[in-house]
Amino acid sequence: MPETNTINVTHQTGKYMLHVGADILSDLPKFLEDIDAVGPVGIITNGKVNDLFGTALREGLKAAGIVTRTILIPDGEKFKTLASAEQVMSALIAQGMERSGTIITLGGGVTTDLGGFVASILYRGIKLVHIPTTLLAMVDAAVGGKTGVNHVSGKNLIGSFYQPELVVMDVNTLTSLDQRDLVSGYAEMLKMGAIRDREYLDLLVARMDELLNSSGTAKWIQVISRSCELKAEVVEADEKEVDLRRILNFGHTLGHAIETTLGYGQIRHGEAVILGMYGAGWLSNQVGQLSQAEWDELSGILVKIPIPIALYDLDIDAVEQATRVDKKVANSKLHFVLLKELGTAETQADIPVLMIKLAVEAVKRAWKETP
Ligand SMILES: NC(=O)c1ccc[n+]([C@@H]2O[C@H](COP(=O)([O-])OP(=O)(O)OC[C@H]3O[C@@H](n4cnc5c(N)ncnc54)[C@H](O)[C@@H]3O)[C@@H](O)[C@H]2O)c1
Repeated sequence: MPETNTINVTHQTGKYMLHVGADILSDLPKFLEDIDAVGPVGIITNGKVNDLFGTALREGLKAAGIVTRTILIPDGEKFKTLASAEQVMSALIAQGMERSGTIITLGGGVTTDLGGFVASILYRGIKLVHIPTTLLAMVDAAVGGKTGVNHVSGKNLIGSFYQPELVVMDVNTLTSLDQRDLVSGYAEMLKMGAIRDREYLDLLVARMDELLNSSGTAKWIQVISRSCELKAEVVEADEKEVDLRRILNFGHTLGHAIETTLGYGQIRHGEAVILGMYGAGWLSNQVGQLSQAEWDELSGILVKIPIPIALYDLDIDAVEQATRVDKKVANSKLHFVLLKELGTAETQADIPVLMIKLAVEAVKRAWKETP
C-alpha cells in the first residue's frame, strides 16, 4: 500500500491539512469530521468529473450520514466567469446551502478556482474543501488560496485570496487524465523546481519519461507532495503576493499572454507555462543572470517536453500587448520573474518592450513546428 503524505499548511488566519495518497477519497468522511464540517455540503464539479468520481464520493459521504447537493458547471476555461459563479450561487441558495455549510470543489483548476471564489463570497465566506483531480490543480490551483474567474480583458482578473480548510489529493484520479493535462501539471512542478529547488528539478527531469509515460499512480505521491510543500512555503511567507510570492509567476507573464493571444481552449495552462518559462529563461540569460550553461540545460529540458504546439503564426506584438494586462494588476509595473540560477528566482520590474518581443520571438523560433 503506498504511503499517504500529509502536509500542514499555515497561513495568516489559520492552518489546514493537505493529504496526498492513493485511494484516499474513501477517507473523506473522516477528514470532514476533522474540520467539523457539520452543515450542508455542496459539491461543485463538472459533468465529466462527476461521471468519473461523483457517485463514489456521494455514496461514501452518504454512508457516513452526510447529505450532499451537487452543482454541475460546464466544462472549460471559457466558463470560468462571474456569470457561472452567480449561477452556482443561485443553485446553492435554492438548494438550501447555509453559512455553516461546506463547499467541496471536485475537479481541475477551473473548478477549484471558480468553486473557491464562490465559497469566498457566498454568505461572506463558507468552509471550503478542495479535491483537485488534475495534476495541475493538485500542484498549483488548489494550493495557496488564490481563487478567481476570468474577465474579457484577461485571465483571473476577478477573485479573492481564500484558504481552504482541507485539500485531499487522490492520485488514482489521475488515471483518466488526458496526456496533455498530465504534461500541463508536470510543467508547474518543473517551475517549482526551477525557482526553489534545484535537486527537485533534477529529480523531475530524471523521471520525466516514467512520470509521463508509465502506468501506475503511486509514482506521483512523492513528487506532488514536494511541489505542494515548496508552494506552501512561499505562500506562508507572502500570502497576498506582495513580494516573494511573485516568483510563482515564473513563466506565467508570457504564458498567460500567449494563452490569451491564442484564445482560451487552444492550449493548456501548463503548456503555456512551458512556453513562458522558455521566454523568461531566455531573458534571464540575456540580462546576464542565468549562465549560458544553465540556460542551455533549461531550454534543452523545456523543448523536450511533448507538447503538440506550433507557433509559426503567433502574433508577437499581440503577445507583448497582452502582457500589459498583468501590469494593471501589479501597480503599473510588469514584474518579470527571472532566474539567477536553476533553483533560484527573483522578480525584475520594467523589462524593455523590445526585450519582451525578442523573448517571444525566441519562443516562437523554438516551437515553430509541431514536434
Ligand atoms: N488558483 C491558482 O493559484 C491557480 C494556479 C494555476 C492554475 N490555475 C487555474 O487552473 C485552471 C487550469 O486548470 P486545469 O489544467 O486543471 O484545467 P481544467 O480544470 O479545465 O481541467 C482540464 C480538463 O480535465 C478534465 N478533468 C479533470 N479531472 C479529470 C480527471 N481526473 N480525469 C479526466 N479528466 C479530468 C476537466 O473536466 C477538463 O476538461 C486555469 O483556469 C488556471 O487559471 C489557478
